[in-house]
Amino acid sequence: MSGFSFSLFALMSLGLVGVVVCGNFSRDDFPSGFSFGASSSAYQTEGAANEDGRTPSIWDTFTHAGYVKGATGDRASDGYHKYKEDVQLMAETGLDAYRFTISWSRLIPNGRGPINPKGLQYYNNLINELISHGIQPHVALHHFDLPEILEDEYGGWVSRKIIKDFTEYANVCFREFGDRVKHWTTISEANAFSLSGYDWGVTPPRRCSYPYGNCSRGDSTTEAYIAAHHILLSHASAYRLYEKNYKDKQHGFVGITIIAHAFVPLTDSKEDEIATKRANEFFIGWFLHPLTFGDYLPLMKKSAGSKIPAFTVQESESVTGSLNFLGLNYYFAVNIKHIPRTLPPEKRDVKADIGIQLLATKNITSQFEYPITPWYLAEILEYVKQHYYNPLIYIYENGQKTRHNSTLEDWPRIEYLHAHIGTILDSIRNGSNVKGYFTWSFLDCFELIDGYESSYGLYYVDFDDPELRRQPKLSAYWYSHFLKRKGITMDI
Ligand SMILES: *[C@@H]1O[C@H](CO)[C@@H](O)[C@H](O)[C@H]1NC(C)=O
Ligand SMILES: *[C@@H]1O[C@H](CO)[C@@H](O)[C@H](O)[C@H]1NC(C)=O
Ligand SMILES: *[C@@H]1O[C@H](CO)[C@@H](O)[C@H](O)[C@H]1NC(C)=O
Ligand SMILES: *[C@@H]1O[C@H](CO)[C@@H](O)[C@H](O)[C@H]1NC(C)=O
Ligand SMILES: *[C@@H]1O[C@H](CO)[C@@H](O)[C@H](O)[C@H]1NC(C)=O
Repeated sequence: MSGFSFSLFALMSLGLVGVVVCGNFSRDDFPSGFSFGASSSAYQTEGAANEDGRTPSIWDTFTHAGYVKGATGDRASDGYHKYKEDVQLMAETGLDAYRFTISWSRLIPNGRGPINPKGLQYYNNLINELISHGIQPHVALHHFDLPEILEDEYGGWVSRKIIKDFTEYANVCFREFGDRVKHWTTISEANAFSLSGYDWGVTPPRRCSYPYGNCSRGDSTTEAYIAAHHILLSHASAYRLYEKNYKDKQHGFVGITIIAHAFVPLTDSKEDEIATKRANEFFIGWFLHPLTFGDYLPLMKKSAGSKIPAFTVQESESVTGSLNFLGLNYYFAVNIKHIPRTLPPEKRDVKADIGIQLLATKNITSQFEYPITPWYLAEILEYVKQHYYNPLIYIYENGQKTRHNSTLEDWPRIEYLHAHIGTILDSIRNGSNVKGYFTWSFLDCFELIDGYESSYGLYYVDFDDPELRRQPKLSAYWYSHFLKRKGITMDI
């Protein structure tokens, strides 16, 4: 369904009462050039998993083995066929920008070599549709979805061979789409992908070892470090390629995206407080320290010892400063408990190296929706500002989870978005260099952990409907009013 009007009548027909002029900030308070948008990812939204020449990614393999409550992204929100309708909705909502990701195995089905003309055409169509509606495309190249063929051939990110293949894939994207795409993220949630895929083994490619996880292959004591190292080298290689061959002509920007959880000490003991500091340094510094200073954090090198791969002088030079912007995703807070480091490094996984245990906060375990804790996002932005020379930042994901089948009147989402957007404004006023905010997600889609049980969309997708009809939730109206400077926010 496309087409909805922003009349008070429409709002009231949704049963909304209490629309008032309030809210202590408006879009005009943000610096000019600030982009507001929404996000999606290929596997979670496109569907058409076996169509037009696409081959499986590690995420297809993961879901088909039943690890996401039996759900898969085979059809997802069918963005592959419905992109025109979706871009129309984005334009009506008033988005400045849209963050989507490219499915590597749709564009280059063998991982390297021939380009799939149908895949190329799909991304060209999507980009052109966005541009013709005045919406800037922000594109990520890898979002947990390496082509399975490269995983099978050499173990994917645990092999150095990935650097060459990733760089060539990036080259194809820059060459084919870079005339229109100006914001490139190489790897989405690089730190989460390394940890949950190679230490805990709870996301693709599901590599880990006992007692840290239950996988059929992998090594939790080393592989997260190795995968992260190859991610950094691949990122830097793509960045340098862009700088050398494309930057002068295309004038775009290349960055990497990490997730920042807010870490909160479990108790007020000194030990938990110090462990929380270590966790913060580690989760952000793992990637940002080498990207800023050319080497891993001293803290990490000390605790992981020889398990941390070393950069050669040349690699260090390539990695240092290979960042036009940092993508930062933020959702919720996690409690940190100090764990003494009794095992030797060769028997420890990453958490054990840091000397921590991560625990869901009581808040998270006791309610379905995320607790609304925007002040932690402000602390993270302040931390990055102070420790890493205040980089340019795009918030590429931030959003509220609700049960998928619950009401269209998604007040918890409105409250969440309002609180976080307001906090970002406060941080900008205090000197943080945030240039854009993208809420996850534009549409309901296939979720990494919950499949179709929870959703984050501004638009509801009825997954039982053969047409996969889209319907605006109240949050879509709220965001749209905010973006269109209608001068109202909901009374929250
Ligand atoms: C909005 O009001 C809240 C609560 O009074 C305050 O904490 C916040 O800093 C204000 N934000 C802006 C951007 O004025
Ligand atoms: C480990 O995974 C296997 C296969 O998925 C399962 O049968 C087994 O129960 C799991 N073991 C534990 C301790 O979770
Ligand atoms: C839990 O959430 C509420 C708001 O939803 C907040 O006031 C409180 O500080 C949160 N607690 C923690 C530990 O984050
Ligand atoms: C939504 O799903 C949950 C869990 O499956 C169920 O308990 C609940 O009754 C459902 N709600 C609606 C409105 O269908
Ligand atoms: C604002 O920035 C200054 C300078 O970086 C810092 O000292 C202060 O703690 C920041 N305020 C907040 C609320 O983060």
